[in-house]
Amino acid sequence: MAAKDTYYLTTPIYYPNDIPHIGHGYTTVAADVLARWRRLRGDRVYFLTGTDEHGLNIVRAAEARGMTAQQHVDDINPRWHEVLDTLQVANDDFIRTTEQRHTSGVQSFMQRLYDNGDLYTATYSGPYCVRCEAYYTVEELIDGQLCPIHRRVVETLDQENWFFRLSKYAPDLLKLYDEHPEFVRPQSRMNEVRSFVAAGLDDISASRSAFEWGVAVPWEPGHVFYVWFDALLNYLTAAGYGSDEGDFQRRWPADVHLIGKDILRFHCVYWPAMLLAAGLAVPRQVFAHGFLLVGGEKMSKSNATGIRPAELVDHFGVDCYRYYFLREISFGQDGSFSWESMEARYTTDLANDLGNLANRVLNMVGSYCGGTVPEPAATAGGAESALAGGLGTAIEGMAAFDRLDFKKGLEDLWVGIGAVNRYVEARAPWKLHKQGASDELGRCLYTCVDALRAIAVLISPVMPDAAARLWAKLGLDEPLSGQRYPASVQPGLLPVGAEVHRGELLFPKLAE
Ligand code: MSP
Repeated sequence: MAAKDTYYLTTPIYYPNDIPHIGHGYTTVAADVLARWRRLRGDRVYFLTGTDEHGLNIVRAAEARGMTAQQHVDDINPRWHEVLDTLQVANDDFIRTTEQRHTSGVQSFMQRLYDNGDLYTATYSGPYCVRCEAYYTVEELIDGQLCPIHRRVVETLDQENWFFRLSKYAPDLLKLYDEHPEFVRPQSRMNEVRSFVAAGLDDISASRSAFEWGVAVPWEPGHVFYVWFDALLNYLTAAGYGSDEGDFQRRWPADVHLIGKDILRFHCVYWPAMLLAAGLAVPRQVFAHGFLLVGGEKMSKSNATGIRPAELVDHFGVDCYRYYFLREISFGQDGSFSWESMEARYTTDLANDLGNLANRVLNMVGSYCGGTVPEPAATAGGAESALAGGLGTAIEGMAAFDRLDFKKGLEDLWVGIGAVNRYVEARAPWKLHKQGASDELGRCLYTCVDALRAIAVLISPVMPDAAARLWAKLGLDEPLSGQRYPASVQPGLLPVGAEVHRGELLFPKLAE
């Protein structure tokens, strides 16, 4: 039997009830950065995203457009692929829950729960938010009538359902949280999940009979599975569950599910309980990030703050888009988006600190050394050790990406970039050139280009496009894709004699 050998990470599967906004882009880009980071670390990676195409939510959205649910999801699907392209997301798979590989996997998984006696039938009536596709208790509602997430009036939904014996798994869940404190991250979310379970769990409904748009319950005609059961199972069916046992063994359990904090309970309570009931391993970690706020409100289509990723990418470029959210907001906390702060990041961090540095250094290699990387003839001194210290911080600091602390990793990377800028000022290569100190000049410019080489590799998970453009300027024979962390970011790997090209600015001035 194959053993797990793959780093498997996922985004939530998104409701294709409208077109994607930057809230959806946030999770997806963070997951892509992590996937690229793990590949740079040398892991075999399987990165999954997709769309959650069943449920009442979708039926209503389709009705509003005068379409069948199938027509609607087929029509919206290309919009999601466009966003992945726009954001340069290199996912390995995209699952749609209307695919056969998914529906058959859901049926065989749920049959297992049924055969084990974990499903039973009963009538349920309660407040239901169609947007969340979830029942709430009256206490959870705002003013006794509004959904706590969407602030919309809930409906009372009355249905004969199949129920999952969630309550039975409370002790196992508490044991899981105790034995694997890293199962839910950040810690504050683990505390929230733990106290929810410790307060006692009710069984949850697992099927619907009021509409047909879903995966059919094999043993009960007229019933479909509750969309959340169907949705969570995408993480299994895309990994090969029920279709390719070898792939499944190599991938499962997932290393991390990235989610927004709005869907914490589904992923940290229901999902592990379902897996325990089926006798399968639970994921290693669920990481819940915060909300993107616009003007202090959760950004969403329904409160008219939905911003499309392309609106930002068209102005700032894809690299800035990917960099901005991870640098600006601590991953795990809520954070505000503003045009002004994005502009400031572009100008200060990207155009000035990084773009100007590359431009200046390559310009000097062009003017003083005929465009080829010089021999580092003079021995390294105090200025070089100060620079090495800064770059060391960058190299070590990037390991924060292992724990999804992208902000800290990028801050440390910019300590390294700042150190190269200070080194250029301290050594003043234009003076060395004037003085005819060619050994010193060789040492200085070699050191600078060598640092740019390491920086290109280090920025590549976050800004793959800028990294490739910078790499191309350095005239290196080996491909950027073959570089590994930390082996390829050590000092002194730059070959003497490489032909560099200054070319276009890495981060040109923004349009007015
Ligand atoms: N379909 C379910 C998830 C099923 S996963 C098995 C769903 N879809 S959703 O499209 O409504 O939202 C999915 C995710 O989008 C959220 O968990 C979150 O990751 C992201 N976001 C949507 N709006 C967001 C913000 N304003 N800010 C940050 N992330 C947001 O729930």
